[in-house]
Amino acid sequence: MKCLLTKAFPEGKSGVLEFPTMNVSETETCTLDSTTAKIAPTAVVIFGATGDLTQRKIIPAFYHLQKNCQIPDGCAIIGYARRPKTDEEFRCELKTSLDQFSHTQPVDDAVWRQLAPHIYYHQADIESPDGYRTLAERLQRLPESAAFGGNCLFYLATAPNYFGTIAENLGRAGLAPREDSRDVRRLIVEKPFGEDLTSARRLNQSLHQFFPEKAIFRIDHYLGKETVQNLLYFRFGNSIYEPLWNRRYIDHIQITVAEKIGVGARGGYYDAAGATRDMLQNHLFQLLTLIAMEPPASLDAESIRDEKVKVLRSIPISKPEELLKRSVRAQYGDGLLDGQHISAYRKEQRVAPDSTTETYVALRLEVDNWRWAGVPFYLRTGKGLYRQFTEINVVYHRPPAVLFAAICGPKLRRNCLRIRIQPGEGIHLNFNAKVPGKSMIQLVDMNFRYREDFSDYLPEAYERLMVDALIGESTLFTRRDEVEQAWQWVDRLHDAWAGENRKDLPLYPFGSMGPDEADHLLNRDGRYWAPVLDD
Ligand SMILES: NC(=O)c1ccc[n+]([C@@H]2O[C@H](COP(=O)([O-])OP(=O)(O)OC[C@H]3O[C@@H](n4cnc5c(N)ncnc54)[C@H](OP(=O)(O)O)[C@@H]3O)[C@@H](O)[C@H]2O)c1
Repeated sequence: MKCLLTKAFPEGKSGVLEFPTMNVSETETCTLDSTTAKIAPTAVVIFGATGDLTQRKIIPAFYHLQKNCQIPDGCAIIGYARRPKTDEEFRCELKTSLDQFSHTQPVDDAVWRQLAPHIYYHQADIESPDGYRTLAERLQRLPESAAFGGNCLFYLATAPNYFGTIAENLGRAGLAPREDSRDVRRLIVEKPFGEDLTSARRLNQSLHQFFPEKAIFRIDHYLGKETVQNLLYFRFGNSIYEPLWNRRYIDHIQITVAEKIGVGARGGYYDAAGATRDMLQNHLFQLLTLIAMEPPASLDAESIRDEKVKVLRSIPISKPEELLKRSVRAQYGDGLLDGQHISAYRKEQRVAPDSTTETYVALRLEVDNWRWAGVPFYLRTGKGLYRQFTEINVVYHRPPAVLFAAICGPKLRRNCLRIRIQPGEGIHLNFNAKVPGKSMIQLVDMNFRYREDFSDYLPEAYERLMVDALIGESTLFTRRDEVEQAWQWVDRLHDAWAGENRKDLPLYPFGSMGPDEADHLLNRDGRYWAPVLDD
């Protein structure tokens, strides 16, 4: 948007958000970022320390926080897993994986040398209460313990069936929060949070035995993405969009989370979960709540989460036959990934040969409230698709063509606000313009790209989430009622599908944009999926 708006408006006044800010360097910015808040020295205990997530995301996040001077002296990281290894071996393995997975390259060895001495390894079994007793003793003996005292952040980066066991064992070992203590004890819980409403409730109950809700940080890493956070700033920090953000002006909204890869080594987990549990219940519903929510009373965590949960409550649960009409599930068949042949989902490792698990789901749903009544929200997510991208398209009503019918026929193209979450993060607004020298109308784009307007460095979601959990800021984590409300809806969809008792799902070729049925879902409403554009 930068170029076009600079022509339309005078230069922004410093510090006053009266005119669009063109460039952060030209104006004063409002600092709401919690990364500036102070982190207290804390012992971060990672359960599942030898696992994939620790190597891919958690340790790279700590490395970048160290690089950006966001970790105070007196913090320690303690890895908890069964495989025998010394502290030094653990550090070496983490360095090797950091070299592979860090999103900034090359890794700065000087930064790693500052961080590594504060990383330790605790070999123990999650199911053994003794492991927690020895952990508590070990924490007290660490050189950093004089600084962190009793402050602990426990990161549950293990298989979900261990989450409850870990919380209970921590509680029994005296490592949970206590009302008579000022020590801060928090839990970060990875996804998936349950597999249906019953299991999510059971898990909540088991966590709550020892950890109050305010000490529980349920990760949905989508909320840590800068572009997702920006949805709130974009909607409520500008005066030009919000008046048009409702059923009077918006025809429909599309939310797409497309994955290029297949299930890979995750076949065992995925075949029991499917795209709906793995992606829709959490990531897509979170994007939906941020797009559809009312302005919160303030920016505090509870106000924002109150509004998000109201959106989920406003999604009517239709009858099974309606849910079947408004949903499409499908599975990838044989196809191509970057020119290589990929086998169908049913031939993947640890996937049942007659599996009816969906690798693709598309839905039409409604948010039945004053703002959105009658506006369809189309959601889709799938694996083995042609592109990897996450995008929200806000499609406006068609303008009346009376003046231009002779030029462009009875239908003018709709305005569409394209919010690209990843990759190529940015916001693009298209509008109809006259083609120079001709009596023709063409859609053109106003573009905002993060990398052009801000610095090159876009923090990874896990960096932001780690800082927020360390300072106790829970806005970007999902609350108990949000999780349960989302499961309630997803359970009804699964019930409807179970009632269908299908032996086969529609197939789409690996490397395509999904099944034809997903196109029909929109086409029969006179709409179509927004074209997939370059990043
Ligand atoms: N990987 C990702 O990119 C990703 C993304 C989003 C969410 N998640 C979630 O993050 C969690 C972890 O995933 P992951 O991929 O890292 O799993 P993983 O690679 O299988 O790692 C599991 C970890 O748990 C430890 N572990 C297993 N049983 C144990 C026991 N009885 N006692 C102590 N430690 C035990 C393993 O260590 P030992 O074998 O050494 O004991 C290993 O460190 C899962 O809930 C997953 O859904 C992962």
